[in-house]
Amino acid sequence: LNFQPTQFVTSAATISQLPADDGVEIAFAGRSNAGKSSALNTLTRQNSLARTSKTPGRTQLINVFEVAPGKRLIDLPGYGYAKVPLEVKEKWQRALSEYLQKRESLKGLVVLMDIRHPYREVDQELLHWATDSAIPVLVLLTKADKLKPGARKTTLLQAREAALVFGGDVRVEMFSSLTKIGLPQAETIISDWLNQ
Ligand code: GTP
Ligand code: MG
Repeated sequence: LNFQPTQFVTSAATISQLPADDGVEIAFAGRSNAGKSSALNTLTRQNSLARTSKTPGRTQLINVFEVAPGKRLIDLPGYGYAKVPLEVKEKWQRALSEYLQKRESLKGLVVLMDIRHPYREVDQELLHWATDSAIPVLVLLTKADKLKPGARKTTLLQAREAALVFGGDVRVEMFSSLTKIGLPQAETIISDWLNQ
């Protein structure tokens, strides 16, 4: 599957504003600043498709992209952003769990976690929701360039071990938008999901 022709479709403020629930959809989720938007840009070879920022919480809307007709990539807002009021946070968590449970076209969830601090509480919650809903998960350990090769490898193996706790189909790879570590692996898995 060629990701390069990916185009922006729309921004939705709520799950209910998403496009019709048909075709195949893959969502990118993770804590604020984990590198979701950067990973989307790396995957699609487009530097400014999804907006990235040094300021956590940049992506406040659900951004919808189309790789091909009926094949969508979804950039979800980061969860656990400290400066967002608790009320807003809780509302978003409810919306996210509902999306994972009810969205028929959702065929895969990419969970991005900074390789230097993986499996924070909110990440674990998300992984439980996804596996409970039988949604295949790809965990990407982002910013892998921040660790030396040895530390990277150790963290990857530990993260794979930790993934077993969630049961279900959870794969773990490292990833770097900077050096493109893990890009072929991510591409293969996401292509397979989109092609079903
Ligand atoms: P929100 O939209 O706020 O939830 O953030 P996000 O998860 O979309 O993160 P984003 O892609 O905007 O990246 C956050 C910051 O991390 C930016 O400053 C990026 O340049 C940086 N970053 C992203 N990926 C990598 C990477 O692979 N390596 C390094 N070194 N920095 C990265
Ligand atoms: Mg973003």
